[in-house]
Amino acid sequence: MVPASLIEEAARAIAARLPLVALTGAGISVESGIPPFRSPGGLWEKFDPAVYASIEAFRRDPSKYWSIRGDFIRRLDDFIPNPGHIALAELERAGLLRHLITQNIDGLHQKAGSRSVTELHGSLREIFCLACNRRYHAPHIPPGTPPRCDDCGGVLKPNTVLFGEALPAEALERAIQEAATCGCLLVVGTSAVVQPAASLPRIARGNGALVVEVNLERSPAGAELFLEGAAGVILPRLTDALRGSIRLRQSKGTRHGEDPPRNL
Ligand code: APR
Repeated sequence: MVPASLIEEAARAIAARLPLVALTGAGISVESGIPPFRSPGGLWEKFDPAVYASIEAFRRDPSKYWSIRGDFIRRLDDFIPNPGHIALAELERAGLLRHLITQNIDGLHQKAGSRSVTELHGSLREIFCLACNRRYHAPHIPPGTPPRCDDCGGVLKPNTVLFGEALPAEALERAIQEAATCGCLLVVGTSAVVQPAASLPRIARGNGALVVEVNLERSPAGAELFLEGAAGVILPRLTDALRGSIRLRQSKGTRHGEDPPRNL
């Protein structure tokens, strides 16, 4: 259990280094019942991503991808945000979190109320026909593995980035811009090994930002402050402590970063 003193220290450090930007990975959705990829029980421990989740494999045989992701996509509405997602949405509402970059495709940050979000790897919400480009919205997709378009029989593919695919240019540009101009990057629940997301902590540090990590174990993000534990436990504690730190700074009239918080 992370001692309160370390949570307070992290909150003071973040409060002194606004604006704050967050980078999240699969770990923040584990407490919502969505398995991660590389940590114990992860999807890639059971299935080879090169065979099941690369764009080349998908073009060769889309049934492989759909055999491991079809059930998750058809149950997407069953998953709900956990206290970790909710804490980040509260930080945004309080004017303490400027932007949230996520590698996740589950849409749980938006379900929790986060609005200023960049989905680096796309979203499972949108699914389109590779032949006629008709749009479908999960979980409302035709049956079948792979599901085929009702209009033309083409194969359906989620609007997510498979291995070997380029990231959406606008999303990547925004993520780099946010990392390069923040005062603190809060890295939550990512193994920080998949590029280009894995470079964002280095970009933030290159601009003199503080990197704070919340994870069950340290990742290569190289955080100056590491808060060991589950996101759903640590983030609500950190959010409470951060409100306190901001109030203290306000009472002392200490200058914040760019975006002074509102409605604390
Ligand atoms: N709270 C915080 N961190 C957690 C929790 C939790 N409850 N559970 C697991 N973690 C941490 C793990 O220790 C690990 O560092 O979350 C991280 C999950 O790592 P990955 O499974 O590799 O997920 P991620 O980093 O998001 O993967 C990046 O790889 O497969 C691609 O496109 C996929 O977006 C994904 C990308």
